[in-house]
Amino acid sequence: MSSIFAFLTKKYMPNNPTTRKRVTTQTLMQMKQASKQIACLTAYDSLTAGILDKAGIDVILVGDSVGNVVQGHDTTVPVTLEHMIYHTQAVGRNVERSMVVTDMPFMSYQASPREAFRNAGRLMKEAGSGAVKLEGGKRVAEAVHLMTENGIPVMGHLGLTPQSIHQFGSYRERGSTEAEADEIYKDAQILQQAGAFAIVLEKIPLLLAKRITEGLAIPTIGIGAGNHCDGQILVWTDMVGMSTEFRPRFVRRYAELNDVITNAVQAYISDVRDKSFPTDAESYE
Ligand code: KIV
Repeated sequence: MSSIFAFLTKKYMPNNPTTRKRVTTQTLMQMKQASKQIACLTAYDSLTAGILDKAGIDVILVGDSVGNVVQGHDTTVPVTLEHMIYHTQAVGRNVERSMVVTDMPFMSYQASPREAFRNAGRLMKEAGSGAVKLEGGKRVAEAVHLMTENGIPVMGHLGLTPQSIHQFGSYRERGSTEAEADEIYKDAQILQQAGAFAIVLEKIPLLLAKRITEGLAIPTIGIGAGNHCDGQILVWTDMVGMSTEFRPRFVRRYAELNDVITNAVQAYISDVRDKSFPTDAESYE
């Protein structure tokens, strides 16, 4: 391929099979250096993951938000390592290009760095994950260091950390006081030093996210953290409008699938009731 042809193919046909090289930690670093925004979404199943991957999403996070979205819990606290392995395996079966990152669930990494390391290893070996994500800064730095020294890529997560909901008591914005902002800034530096390849910044003021992003060599991925981050992430069911109740201001809804599905189901019920479904063409002789 001549270089101009390769350039045009990449620019205008990002899903061309010849350009669908797996996204790696290096790709994300290069994107930050080239000021190219990183687009990330969550997924929990194979079908959805395949759609996101083919659409060109850079990172698919198998988030512990599976606890809210799929399992119907109020928090992410009940999610187990076995759940994360199961969902990551499903996602991984249908993904070619996107980087697959798996959340380490509550109490799979807090007890000790060695236990964290072992559990992260299971997510890589058994689930086939490309990287793990965990919440916290200073308190998880030793675990992050142990993992990254031994070939496990780690994404950090600062700001609002939903696994600590019972300690904080609410999902309010973090980093709005000077002390909290300084702590989050320091934690970001500590995670980078410990070897993290990227950091999710959740629900913090946009100027704090800007300061953190400018102070780091590694990319920041924002959710409710403004547009100065190096990339963005949303829970995929939120951005396609599957839920009716959860509507925080940081979620932009790109579709109203709740309405689409409700209309489809009601049309189906009506067709079943009046026997217009199935027709002979939809039956076997
Ligand atoms: O679990 C999750 O979905 C997350 C994102 C909100 C970043 O951690």
